[in-house]
Amino acid sequence: MRVAIITLSDAGYAGQREDKSGPVIRDMVEAAGYEVVHTALLPDGLEPLSSELKRLCDNDLADLVLTTGGTGFSPRDLTPEATLSVVERPTPGIAEAMRWQSLQITPRAMLSRAAAGIRKQTLMVNLPGSPKAVRECLEYILPALGHGLEILR
Ligand code: MTE
Repeated sequence: MRVAIITLSDAGYAGQREDKSGPVIRDMVEAAGYEVVHTALLPDGLEPLSSELKRLCDNDLADLVLTTGGTGFSPRDLTPEATLSVVERPTPGIAEAMRWQSLQITPRAMLSRAAAGIRKQTLMVNLPGSPKAVRECLEYILPALGHGLEILR
């Protein structure tokens, strides 16, 4: 299964902050047997992400797209909106599962507005921004995703 990883961060895009969460995702998915076929570092906001998601899904360039960052409350956190703007079939259970699991760790998990859904034959999932949160969420959802991705093909 092919995975694309997209990091959303204005500071990262401006070269002012190192992307630590993208590499955490890469390590975890590769350990689970996925192939990382694409990575990108984009600024926060609607348009850069929605175009990139459309390009990846409509050209069948990945089976799974994992985003990190931009799911919180700051005015520029628009990852869920960008994702839902291109989703054809929502998969709310994935975001619900991440929040449920994460709430066992921190009440701040309720602040995650993460979304997930399918466009064509590609599943898109928003992960939170911090490497710690990424690890906690991905550890929980990854074992279940494989079955969904198989059915999608
Ligand atoms: N989920 C887990 N598992 N662990 C965490 O530490 N942090 C939360 C939440 N989800 C957290 C988590 C916090 S503090 C925020 S603000 C939201 O994710 C959104 O994060 P983002 O804006 O970096 O995407």
